[in-house]
Amino acid sequence: MSSLSQRPANAVVGQAIPHESAALHVTGSALYTDDLVGRTAGVLHAWPVQSPHARATVTALRVEAAYGIDGVVRVLSAADVPGLNDAGVKGDEPLFPAEARHVGHAICWVLGETLEAARLGAAAVEVDYAPLPAIITLREAIAAEAFQGCQPTLLRGDVESGLAHAAVVFAGELDIAGQEHFYLETHVSIALVDEAGQVFVQSSTQHPSETQAMVAQVLALPSNAVTVQSLRMGGGFGGKEMQPHGLAAVAALGATLTGRPVRLRLNRTQDMTMTGKRHGFHAQWRVGFDADGHLTALDATLTSDGGWSLDLSEPVLARALCHVDNAYWIPDVRVNGRIARTNKTSQTAFRGFGGPQGMLVIEDILGRCAPLLGIDPAELRRRNFYVDGQATPYGQPVRHPERLVHAWDDLTARADLVQRREEVAAFNAEHPHAKRGLAITPVKFGISFNFTTFNQAGALVHVYTDGSVLINHGGTEMGQGLHTKMLQVAATSLGLPLERVRLAPTRTDKVPNASATAASSGADLNGGAVKHACEQITARLAEVAAAELSVDPSEVTFAGGVVSGGGGSLTWEEVVALAYAQRVQLWASGFYRTEGLQWDSTAMQGSPFKYFSYGVAACEVEVDGFTGAYRTRRVDIVHDVGDSLSPLVDIGQIEGGFVQGAGWLTLEDLRWEEGDGPNRGRLATQSASTYKLPSLSEMPEVFTVALLEHAHEDGVVYGSKAVGEPPLMLAFSVREALRQAAAAFGPERAAVHLATPATPESVWWAIESARSQRDDDSPGRRAERAGVTVVSAEVGGQDPHAPDQPEPDAPPIAPETERLADSGSPR
Ligand code: MTE
Ligand code: MOS
Repeated sequence: MSSLSQRPANAVVGQAIPHESAALHVTGSALYTDDLVGRTAGVLHAWPVQSPHARATVTALRVEAAYGIDGVVRVLSAADVPGLNDAGVKGDEPLFPAEARHVGHAICWVLGETLEAARLGAAAVEVDYAPLPAIITLREAIAAEAFQGCQPTLLRGDVESGLAHAAVVFAGELDIAGQEHFYLETHVSIALVDEAGQVFVQSSTQHPSETQAMVAQVLALPSNAVTVQSLRMGGGFGGKEMQPHGLAAVAALGATLTGRPVRLRLNRTQDMTMTGKRHGFHAQWRVGFDADGHLTALDATLTSDGGWSLDLSEPVLARALCHVDNAYWIPDVRVNGRIARTNKTSQTAFRGFGGPQGMLVIEDILGRCAPLLGIDPAELRRRNFYVDGQATPYGQPVRHPERLVHAWDDLTARADLVQRREEVAAFNAEHPHAKRGLAITPVKFGISFNFTTFNQAGALVHVYTDGSVLINHGGTEMGQGLHTKMLQVAATSLGLPLERVRLAPTRTDKVPNASATAASSGADLNGGAVKHACEQITARLAEVAAAELSVDPSEVTFAGGVVSGGGGSLTWEEVVALAYAQRVQLWASGFYRTEGLQWDSTAMQGSPFKYFSYGVAACEVEVDGFTGAYRTRRVDIVHDVGDSLSPLVDIGQIEGGFVQGAGWLTLEDLRWEEGDGPNRGRLATQSASTYKLPSLSEMPEVFTVALLEHAHEDGVVYGSKAVGEPPLMLAFSVREALRQAAAAFGPERAAVHLATPATPESVWWAIESARSQRDDDSPGRRAERAGVTVVSAEVGGQDPHAPDQPEPDAPPIAPETERLADSGSPR
């Protein structure tokens, strides 16, 4: 066991404690960035002038009228930018654009004494636009070949021969929906400038160091003249990984120009119409199975909807490609990736970061094809699991695949699946107008940033002369409980009760060059750094105590606030006081980098992940045959978090991730105006009244979560595993349960295509498709109804009803496209 993962007896990590701010959260006293407005004098408020066009050249901008409005102080436009007029790391995100690229794009900003003055000022600004043709949907972009960024290909073996040797080959397509983050706290920044020109930005950002770099870029300042603090976020979910930068830069620009604090907070509609969302994807695929239902080959093209600029689209696509296998061994693989450029918000990181979209492709294939193969979907999945010794298509050995089997078997027993399948069948036989479905699906998710460089972190741990401890680390808190875990890590490492340790908000002047708190790696990385800092301190204190106790320093131990050795002991406070008197340094900075990673993003090969997280979910739904409406009757989960650092936090993450995934797959329906009218490109769902989020009424009626046992992870802080993103994908079980319930309205072995999101409307169409197979349940008819083309079939001979053309309309494979060199900032 590595010393990093070794856990002392009676450790503070592993204790089931509430979130460190739980009491503040529920009493409303936790401070969020916007709460600082009331504590800051002379604040100016910012309001954007937003484009009504999806794409248009700005031919004239007249701001004079804004100054006629009472309380308007300043209009910010491109001419005011001292540095680079760009808020991104790719150089394709002008902060004040000369061309509007989506409806809602901010052209300029107005600062006012009050929010109302700024709003009226923005309304008074006159902008002349020359509209240009715009691309709105992913399919339009594919037809126009409007792509941006790299076009990677993930390749293993010979996919043509894999398909040629298959007993049956199917082909199909899938449209995957995007998702709005809908964090409770919208984007917000407050910027101040001090007497020496030092800029201080408080921002709701997951990546303070990059926000700092972008503010410096726009203001033409060195990074040491800009400090960014992230107090805590009211949710980020990936939406605050890159998108805060431009907003922080506008606030900082306003503060430098006026000398006054500037607050920029988006209201909900501004947030929804200006900032990026989960990428929608289109997938086109051919898949081969052998006569036993083992996957032989997968050939697919995944096209993501990147929106108007690249932002994080390239690394999101890379993660999608790296997760197209999910938990399954596929011998021959070719997956082409492309990023469409559309005139929509710039789509960005969202919990899972492309992983969910990639995994949905294979889960959808298995769910759609199982009835066509005549194999129970759970059995088809289980049969294709990785086994020890196999590697992913990008060449990383799959370690601990048996954990997934344990989780699967454990859940099957725990949730009584065998018995309940019979009950579901009995219910369905008795009820012509209501059907139930019960599905079980696995998750395998790679942990670490693909981009090896980002897998590093820093921390700063202070011990004061009274023995109290203050820690800082480079990670941000967005509700996920990272700070709680870091307090537990520090207390464990220093051998102190939790109450002796305090944590200060994340700031770039405390810990520099920090990576985004993302990729679920916050606890792994920052935990390693906090532990490293603490261990330097205990090593020094051990020397001090050893001299006092007349033992060797190696015999000194720290536990529960007591420092012991050779039968004697001192209090922590006594040792700290001695150390100070002896002029021994009482604080330390820590650093951690994940060992053993390597990734070639051009070849799409390597071992980018420290380990895989595993999980299994079983879900039962009931669907109404008249409306497609459904309820989630029961969900059971077994999830692998290693040896949990903080079980309550982890269970909360699993529950929350699952529900957010269920929202994405079944409820949340982003709609953009796609017609040719004046509203073309407008987001039609711009508030909670039109965008359906999961709420209490959509919760599973029974919901159990268990942490996988015997799950120690060697080489990670105190044997734990990341938890933030993987549980989101447990929600595939809801979609598959809905598919099975819909299919139950048709003949036995009806195969159905279920659109995403599987709203009641989509479910109703799936039911109709199942019913339509009653009159003709030949294999060809069933395949057609499931949106699957039977390309070739040896098992049972050629199906006479199979559609004529052996290939789907468009060839599933983009021609051997030249692999574009990786253009940087992968993540
Ligand atoms: N949980 C809450 N409550 N709020 C959030 O914004 N973000 C998720 C996840 N869980 C999020 C959350 C995402 S996208 C990630 S990457 C991880 O938390 C980031 O935190 P971690 O690395 O500390 O797990
Ligand atoms: Mo999470 S999408 O990696 O911020």
